[in-house]
Amino acid sequence: MKKFAIVLAAGKGTRMKSRDPEHSKVSYPILGKALVNYVLDAIAPVGLDETIVVVGFGGEATRKLVEDRAKVVWQKELVGTGNAVLQVKKILENREGATLVVCGDTPLITTETITRIFNVHGKTKNHLTIVTAVLEKPSGYGRIIRDPKSNYVLAIKEDKDCTPEEKEIHEVNAGIYIFDNKALFDYIDEINSNNAQREYYLTDLIGIFKRNEKKVGAYVVEDAVEVFGINDRVQLAYAGKVIRKRINNKLMLLGVSMEDPDSTYISLDVEIGRDTIILPNTTIFGKCKIGENNVIGPNTYLDNVEIGHENTIQSSWISDSKIGDNNEIGPYTKMRAGTVIGNHCRVGNFVELKNADLHDGVKAAHLSYIGDTRVGEKTNVGCGTITANYDGFNKMRTEIGENVFLGSGTILVAPITVENNSFTAAGSTITKDVKTDSLVIARARQVEIEHGYTTFMNKAKAKKEASKK
Ligand code: UD1
Ligand code: MG
Repeated sequence: MKKFAIVLAAGKGTRMKSRDPEHSKVSYPILGKALVNYVLDAIAPVGLDETIVVVGFGGEATRKLVEDRAKVVWQKELVGTGNAVLQVKKILENREGATLVVCGDTPLITTETITRIFNVHGKTKNHLTIVTAVLEKPSGYGRIIRDPKSNYVLAIKEDKDCTPEEKEIHEVNAGIYIFDNKALFDYIDEINSNNAQREYYLTDLIGIFKRNEKKVGAYVVEDAVEVFGINDRVQLAYAGKVIRKRINNKLMLLGVSMEDPDSTYISLDVEIGRDTIILPNTTIFGKCKIGENNVIGPNTYLDNVEIGHENTIQSSWISDSKIGDNNEIGPYTKMRAGTVIGNHCRVGNFVELKNADLHDGVKAAHLSYIGDTRVGEKTNVGCGTITANYDGFNKMRTEIGENVFLGSGTILVAPITVENNSFTAAGSTITKDVKTDSLVIARARQVEIEHGYTTFMNKAKAKKEASKK
């Protein structure tokens, strides 16, 4: 059986209250991924022969988000879900198969559930299988009206069209349906807009199918959270929480420890090895790949970072960098794009690295800026060392060899090379290359003035008294 999918993503999202009049609801992100792409990710693995996204309001933005994975169809007038599906008629009407219709604002739906619904639909030979959920607070959703005797679904009544008795029904329409494709497009033109919202409701097809003796069945989802629809920002935040919890649970079951999963924010593409421990208030975004037996956090932010094994990374901010094994990073290290750390390094508090390549065993333990620099094996970067890599126009490189000892407060004015086994005296401003096996001192020589203290203080006191007269 061929499988098709129509994702409804044209609606306005008025309740998101954005100041941008073109902001489509389905383009709001959770952990950097748009709502509509959660839906597409969930449905794709069932093996679809055609996927079509209906866009309308803010449609340009939605189109860009999905065009590499789905056909895009425009709904010009946003007059309801029935009219949205009608726009697909020209593409699908002559095909045989089953058509999944799903709202683009339900990011919690899972592949397992979609697979199960397709199976039920196939086995029952329904012309329409609607997905329902039993909710504690059903308000806002369309209610499922069942025949009291046979329990068959008779209709879906939209919240705004319900009588007070119907509003008491807790079984709701999830906004997910599987149709026999032929039947769907044979009858879709019969939908009209005689209702409270003057809209073409897709749900009217239930009554239409019934009248035409087509078989309608319902599938009740086990976990109602899967069909949670996002209409405002409170719901957006809630869905984010559910998604983060799913990611964290999956990682923990694979052998990652989290001291406080509620304050651990990990995005979808992150890989973490076994026995790594994540401490509270840690955010791991982008395409991070983290090895085994690391301790990360507390209060750490990682974005697009590759990390080996056995590292400790505390209270630090690291992006677009690569870290080997057995390193000690932080607290309060900032690592920016292009930084590469070897093995057995120590990068300490208030050290900022940018495009820096630290070979094995380097120590930069306190208060430094190292940018556009290579640092050779076992070099010690003394406290307060700075690479002056920028002249206001150009970025320039600093090359530091192996086993170098940079004294505290060394300033290296780039471009500059410091060769292996050399030494810079504390407080030196280095403007010329440093040769192997040399000790350079580049600071004013210290002078000592005998009784200088008394002489200076007396002069200062006299000056103050003179000014009072
Ligand atoms: C819809 C269902 C309701 C169900 C609920 C589940 C109808 C008539 N109602 O109501 O029974 O309980 O979803 O979440 O179907 N859309 C378009 N074009 C339009 C209107 C909407 O593409 O003209 C899209 C929206 O972008 C959205 C989806 O359809 O992704 C649902 O629209 P929405 O306005 O959120 O419908 P609900 O009132 O939530
Ligand atoms: Mg909705």
